[in-house]
Amino acid sequence: MPAGSLTVVGTGIRLVTQLTPEARAAIRDAEKVFYVTDGPVQRRWFEQLNSTAESLHHLYQLGRDRLSTYEEIVERALAAARGGVRVCLVMYGHPGVLVTPAHDAIRSARAEGLSATMLPGVSAEDCLFADLGVDPGARGCQTFEATDFLVQRRRFDPRSALVLYQIAAIGVRAHTATLPNLRGLRALSAALVEHYPAEHQAIVYTAAEYPGCRAIIEPSTIAGLPSAPVQATATLYVPPLDQLPADPELLVALAPE
Ligand SMILES: C[S@@+](CC[C@H](N)C(=O)[O-])C[C@H]1O[C@@H](n2cnc3c(N)ncnc32)[C@H](O)[C@@H]1O
Repeated sequence: MPAGSLTVVGTGIRLVTQLTPEARAAIRDAEKVFYVTDGPVQRRWFEQLNSTAESLHHLYQLGRDRLSTYEEIVERALAAARGGVRVCLVMYGHPGVLVTPAHDAIRSARAEGLSATMLPGVSAEDCLFADLGVDPGARGCQTFEATDFLVQRRRFDPRSALVLYQIAAIGVRAHTATLPNLRGLRALSAALVEHYPAEHQAIVYTAAEYPGCRAIIEPSTIAGLPSAPVQATATLYVPPLDQLPADPELLVALAPE
């Protein structure tokens, strides 16, 4: 039997136009394609690119625990690869950014001796840097998943930028149609007010998901987050506080010899 393999790719955030050439080739050349996104345009596009393309979106049933969905996605992809097939699993955005089943599938495939590769894609954070004009290298940038940020009481530096993923689904474990979870936004606002002035301006950001559309950029004070219009797929950007003067002794000590 030929050796099966797994390639995990991402579509980018913006439909079709953010798919990288190498991800496109991986989808086109696979012997079996699974994808998790939904919608008639996506379906037609995937099926045209590869007639084996099969959506796993139905696994995201309302009320179902996310972890159980993720396990089934991994199992479907690996079952095909075990059978000697070159499988491509297509996720949303960058496949390695907050996509548990993508990493699980790669780990499990390798543990079983199958060849497994992940290709990078365009993430929501990449779009945010472009749309909001943020250079993560200028003042540093800290990225967290919002629930993890809260419940682990993550330590961070408010003088560097802060990006929080999944702010609409704080504390939400099952698939639900009723986002945002206001209780989560209230908790987030209260936690951030301990580090920023209540009037510090953040941005609730939603990247355009279709070519020709614009990003939704909603300024909100930290205190006002619970009443901000938060889309189900929004990401929060909190600009850094003013920075402190650089340490003069270190500046001298670091001068090249
Ligand atoms: C499960 S994660 C997937 C992340 C994705 N793999 C990526 O590369 O960005 C879902 C989260 O990504 C962010 N996200 C997804 N689509 C977005 C969009 N159109 N605009 C802004 N953030 C988005 C939100 O924080 C959302 O809660």
